[in-house]
Amino acid sequence: MKRKISSFQVILFIFFIWGFSPVAQELQAQEVRLDVPFVPTPYEVIEDMLRFAELKKGDILYDLGCGDGRIVIEAAKRAGIRAVGIDIDPERIRESRENAKKAGVEHLVEFRRADIFETDFSEATVITMYLLPSVNIRLRPTILKLKPGTRIISHDFDMDEWQADRMTYVPIDYSVHTVYMWIVPANISGIWDWSFELGKKKYSCRLEVSQVYQFYNGILYIDDLRIPLPEAKVVGDNVEFSVFLPGSADTELIFSGKANGAQLTGTLTVQRGAKNEKQPWKAARRPGTATRIDY
Ligand SMILES: C[S@@+](CC[C@H](N)C(=O)[O-])C[C@H]1O[C@@H](n2cnc3c(N)ncnc32)[C@H](O)[C@@H]1O
Repeated sequence: MKRKISSFQVILFIFFIWGFSPVAQELQAQEVRLDVPFVPTPYEVIEDMLRFAELKKGDILYDLGCGDGRIVIEAAKRAGIRAVGIDIDPERIRESRENAKKAGVEHLVEFRRADIFETDFSEATVITMYLLPSVNIRLRPTILKLKPGTRIISHDFDMDEWQADRMTYVPIDYSVHTVYMWIVPANISGIWDWSFELGKKKYSCRLEVSQVYQFYNGILYIDDLRIPLPEAKVVGDNVEFSVFLPGSADTELIFSGKANGAQLTGTLTVQRGAKNEKQPWKAARRPGTATRIDY
């Protein structure tokens, strides 16, 4: 007996075949929900973005929302570094790969179709972006967890309360573009302890640090004598501050070092006039005293 095919089954079949057609796939691509529309960064602006980046061997650049791949391709071409472009729009990824091929940098670049909010870009040493203020703010907590020293460069949009470390303007025709740069700071908030010796005397130190983004205020206690430090900046993982030895205005103590989690390691320079002596400096943060540096 012949089986009858219902009109519903015919419609289902057409729907199934339609799903594989290029037209349907194009329409699906158009349905991609973009947090930011595609607007390419002019090459004059890229020039200054890459100048701020100071790319060097070993850097890995990520362009979040890479568009046609131009920033990624320029970085790879100029500095010979590995560069990765992330874009949610498959059309942009296709275009970026084609452009990389034309530029002869396919071996250095990678383009991934992905959502920037679901992508791990923690290996980056440089991030570039041309997004929107609200998108920058959503990314900010993730960016602040990147390795201290990572350079973040944004075309036109800032990070609200997180002040840029550098900024420049690029006039093009009748408009002015802004380039911002931030250096991800180490979080040095909390209470730090160390001691040092000068002559035969041993001094105990405690530094209480409160930090907002890259700026910190500290109260240094040397043998319980309270010395407020002027506001200073953590540049990547670099920390430096100086005080005069209590009761000895000709003796300056310059502490400089690198933060690595709960350790600060570097040098104490004891400056007396034109003479100086150096000794290793090592401080440890009390567990549980670090706080958030954003708000
Ligand atoms: C203003 S364009 C910038 C293109 C390129 N970075 C440049 O400066 O020339 C923003 C890009 O972000 C992409 N985009 C928007 N929302 C995204 C998301 N959630 N994840 C990844 N890419 C996204 C868009 O497809 C677009 O290509």
